[in-house]
Amino acid sequence: MPKVFVDKEAISRALFNLLDNAFKYSEGSLNAYLRVWSDGENIFLEVKDEGIGISKQDQAKIFEKFYRSGDVHHTSVKGSGIGLTLVTHIIKAHEGDVLLESELGKGTKVTIRLPVKRKKDKRGG
Ligand SMILES: Nc1ncnc2c1ncn2[C@@H]1O[C@H](COP(=O)(O)OP(=O)(O)OP(=O)(O)O)[C@@H](O)[C@H]1O
Ligand SMILES: [Mg+2]
Repeated sequence: MPKVFVDKEAISRALFNLLDNAFKYSEGSLNAYLRVWSDGENIFLEVKDEGIGISKQDQAKIFEKFYRSGDVHHTSVKGSGIGLTLVTHIIKAHEGDVLLESELGKGTKVTIRLPVKRKKDKRGG
């Protein structure tokens, strides 16, 4: 695994947000998986759940500030709709990106890509 220089606190917070979502938006199944790997140029952090999933319409909106799905399950789940916005900001600041894959009723997978070498920060690598 190549070394990558990051804001440890910020990346921890991003990861916490994804794991928090994985557990919050699962009914019955409480399985969540964290996978970390590298292709040499990037580090990938993947959080996968087998929860309620996200509809195609909602997938386009959930990265917006304060957006929460109208799903009934959410009435009992607390949140302010800021988690994913924060995750995106943190990862963009590291010149990475966030990929969402989800299917309603099946589960959700969020993959963070962090480049090992950054343009703005020559310490990378
Ligand atoms: N793993 C997931 N499974 C299903 N729905 C999800 C998942 N992650 C996010 N969502 C949907 O996206 C919305 C936005 O998520 P986000 O993390 O930004 O906010 P939140 O969890 O509602 O509140 P906060 O994170 O601020 O406590 C959620 O309200 C939910 O509708
Ligand atoms: Mg959240």
